[in-house]
Amino acid sequence: MNKVKNETAVQTKQLFIGGEKVEAPRYAPLYSPYSGEQIADIAMADQELTTKAIDAAYEARDIMKNMPAFERAEILEKVSVLLKERLEEAAQIISMESAKPITFSKAEVSRTIETYKFAAEEAKRIHGETIPFDAATGGVGRIGYTVREAIGVIGAITPFNFPLNLVAHKVGPAIAAGNTIVLKPASQTPLSALYIAELFEEAGLPAGALNVVTGPGGVVGDTIVEDDRVSMVTFTGSVPVGIGIRSKAGLKKTTLELGSNAALIIDKGVDIDAIIDRCIMGAFSNQGQVCISLQRIYAHEEVYEAFVEKFAEAAKQLKVGDPFDPETYISAMITKRETERIAEWVEETKNSEAEIAAGGNLTNGVFEPTIITNAHHELNVSCSEAFAPIVVVNKISSVEEAVAEVNHSKFGLQAGIYTENITHALYAAKHLHVGGVIINDVPTYRVDHMPYGGVKESGTGREGLKYAVEEMTELKLIVWNQN
Ligand code: SIN
Repeated sequence: MNKVKNETAVQTKQLFIGGEKVEAPRYAPLYSPYSGEQIADIAMADQELTTKAIDAAYEARDIMKNMPAFERAEILEKVSVLLKERLEEAAQIISMESAKPITFSKAEVSRTIETYKFAAEEAKRIHGETIPFDAATGGVGRIGYTVREAIGVIGAITPFNFPLNLVAHKVGPAIAAGNTIVLKPASQTPLSALYIAELFEEAGLPAGALNVVTGPGGVVGDTIVEDDRVSMVTFTGSVPVGIGIRSKAGLKKTTLELGSNAALIIDKGVDIDAIIDRCIMGAFSNQGQVCISLQRIYAHEEVYEAFVEKFAEAAKQLKVGDPFDPETYISAMITKRETERIAEWVEETKNSEAEIAAGGNLTNGVFEPTIITNAHHELNVSCSEAFAPIVVVNKISSVEEAVAEVNHSKFGLQAGIYTENITHALYAAKHLHVGGVIINDVPTYRVDHMPYGGVKESGTGREGLKYAVEEMTELKLIVWNQN
């Protein structure tokens, strides 16, 4: 495997607690997933230091709760502006720690700039409503209204796949709503989270409002989830960890954004040439390590052969390799263990009736973009979340059959349908059991202010700034008796 050119020296990264860099008893080396080169030494917090971060967040909660909305908005706006000025630097950090190809890292930073801007705007429109009390016989002579109040300390546990923007989806609305945060970033991608904490400090966020605690999930994560002073936990990651959080969180609010094996239906009559690029992006961007990565395609028998041929041809053209090469489309998966897992899943398909139309192997440690046809439900590549550059394409003879196939899943995050037929589009919109139906695009479509979240094992609650603010506030009722 080629070495990534890493001109920065190995940095030591402390914890960020109460507005200060705090040393930990132990540091662990962080390596580039692509080159294997060491890029940093990361502080490993223990239970005591995690509790110290919760103390800091708890102490800062009144400051944040009482901060006027325009000030919260100004801080978020400033972070957005700072990030715009440092787009290149932030993108380099993402590529270095996650092996995301640099073009996609830049796109992630651009989205993050927008996410904080949306958060700034949402901070200014958090409100309740008046209630028509006299609609009830017992309500005559009373007036009342609701307000949305900050919830307090929020524990945020974020994944490696969008280390800047999925942090923004938790930190942005939390600050917008006047909360404080204890953030545990994914072990492989702490640098983006620590970087954004520095920008918040520069933007004037009070000490203690955002604390970043790196370290083992079993210690840091559990301490956050189990501390009574934390009022809410927001998590993006795997189903088993999500279930663990739910079971340990007691009565805390939880937002869980978990996995999926997102699907796309391609109806007859669709112009195949026009959709290939979107299918490539859906299946292979970020090495398929996206919760809404396109993993299953159900193509109508009238377009199936043409689609598979063109899709496979396009996949074979994708450049595989160094994440810092602007031409690279696919680089290394996050860990060697994950790469080995997906290689085993592909081996499993080779022992079935399924066929490999493209990829299926490793090139210099990078798993190739892989297309599998005729894959049965029971195979891991179909029914489990792949989180890898792998997609299955199966033939269907009607949209009704395809919808049933899509719904034959324990997950339900987003699904897409390409169709020229409005009745088929409406049928899919009504019958797909998912959090979002995307008509005439891949399920991988997301902009950052839209509601985002799933049903079934894909999770509970919604992200997207307005919706996350709702999750991160408590509704309070005020009733006046004028009798
Ligand atoms: C995710 O993997 O859930 C995030 C997808 C995205 O923000 O595009």
